[in-house]
Amino acid sequence: MNHFSYHRGTLHAEEVPLPAIAEAVGTPTYVYSKATLTRHFQMVTEAFGKHPHLICYSVKANSTLAVLRLFAEAGGGFDIVSGGELARVRQAGGDPAKTVFAGVGKTPDEMERALNAGLLMFNVESAEELEMLDAVGRRLGRRAPFALRVNPDVDARTHRHIATGLKTSKFGVPFEEAVDLYTRSRKMKGLSAVGLDCHIGSQLTRSAPMKAAISKVAGLYRSLKEQGHPLAYLDIGGGLGITYRDETPPSPQEYARTVLEASKDTGATLILEPGRVLVGNAGVLLTRVLYRKRTPAKTFVVVDVGMNDLIRPALYEAHHELQPVVKRRGKPVQVDVVGPVCESTDVLARARPIVLPQQGELYAVMSAGAYGMSMASTYNSRPRPAEVLVDGAAWRVIRERETVEDLWRGERA
Ligand code: LLP
Repeated sequence: MNHFSYHRGTLHAEEVPLPAIAEAVGTPTYVYSKATLTRHFQMVTEAFGKHPHLICYSVKANSTLAVLRLFAEAGGGFDIVSGGELARVRQAGGDPAKTVFAGVGKTPDEMERALNAGLLMFNVESAEELEMLDAVGRRLGRRAPFALRVNPDVDARTHRHIATGLKTSKFGVPFEEAVDLYTRSRKMKGLSAVGLDCHIGSQLTRSAPMKAAISKVAGLYRSLKEQGHPLAYLDIGGGLGITYRDETPPSPQEYARTVLEASKDTGATLILEPGRVLVGNAGVLLTRVLYRKRTPAKTFVVVDVGMNDLIRPALYEAHHELQPVVKRRGKPVQVDVVGPVCESTDVLARARPIVLPQQGELYAVMSAGAYGMSMASTYNSRPRPAEVLVDGAAWRVIRERETVEDLWRGERA
C-alpha cells in the first residue's frame, strides 16, 4: 500500500500533483510520501503487537536525515554499518541506546565512537573483530555489549548479489564456531554478551528460508541461555521483500507469524532490521524525457536519470516500474529507457512497452525509496538529485540538489 495514485490522469504523491514538484525543484528528484513511511512502520509494529520487540530501521536503505527523524519520532531504533551512519542517526535525533551496529569491517575508531555513544549492541562478524572490540572496551574501561552475527547457511533464494546467509558469504561467524566464541568471551573484560544475530539476505519473498534460518538461530539462542550466557536480544536482521513488479512477498502479519513461531520459547526481545519494506514503495524518482532516438535495431528513450542516481537496474538488473506522470492514450511500443551516463549498463528499463513519450514528458520511476538516493554517486560529475517529502497537500525539500561546486569540495587543483 502506498500513497502514489492518479487523480484525473495526473500522478500524485498524497495530495500533491507530481508536475508541481518537478516544476519547482527540477528533475531528477526523489519524492517520498510521509503517510506511506509512517504506515509501513506502523504495520510492522502492529504485526508484532505486544511481543517484546524493537524495530531498528536499516539506515543503509535510505539514510536521509528527514527519513531517519520520522522513524526516530515513531519510536524506532536503527541498524547501522558505519561511523557515518551513527553520525546521521544522532544528527536526526535517533537514540544510540536503540541502535545496533553490524558490518564485517568496523574500525577501532568506529567501535570507540559507538561505545561512547551508548550503543545497544555490536553485531560482531568474526573472531578477530571480537578481540578488537574487547580491546577497545578495556581501553575505555567499559564492557562493549555484543551479539555474534551467525551465518545460518540458508539459501535465501534472492538475487545472488544480495544473499548473505550462505556459508560462502563474507558475513557472519560460522554457525558451528559460535558457542566456542561466546564461551571465550566470558573471560574478556571488555565485552558483555547480550544477544545473538543473523541476517540472511534482502528482498526475501518467501517465508520458508526465513523460517529455516530463524528456527536454527533460535535453537542456538536457547542453548546459549542454558549454558548461562545472559542473552536478552535475538536480532533476526531485515530482508522482507516488496512488490516491484509482480512479487508476492509475505505481508507484515505473515512475516510476524513466521518469526514468532520460529523464535518461540526463547524469551528474547526481538530486534528487527527492516529497510526496504519501510521505505521502498514510499518513494519515486521523478525524471524527464530528454530525447527519443530510433536506430535500425531499437527505439531508445533517453531520460535525465542515470545509473549514478539509481544504480539498482545497472547493478542487479532490478526492475522498476515506470509510470507516466500525466497519462496519455496511445499504443505502447517497445523501448529501452536509458540514462545519460557513458556506460552501456546505464539502462533504466529494457524492452519496456510504453506509449512513446514526447520530449519533456515526466516519468516516475516507482519503488525507488530504498537503495536509491543512499546508493547515488556523482559518477560522470553529475550532481546528485534533490529529495522532497510530501505530507498531505504540503511538501518540502529535505535535501537540496547538489551543486557543481559541491562536486569538488575538498579538492585542490
Ligand atoms: N540488516 C543487515 C545486517 C543488512 O545487511 C541489511 C541489508 C538489512 C538489515 C536491511 O535489509 P532490507 O530489509 O532492506 O532487505 N542494495 C541492495 C540491497 C542490499 C542490502 C544489504 N543489507 C538493493 O538495492 O537491493
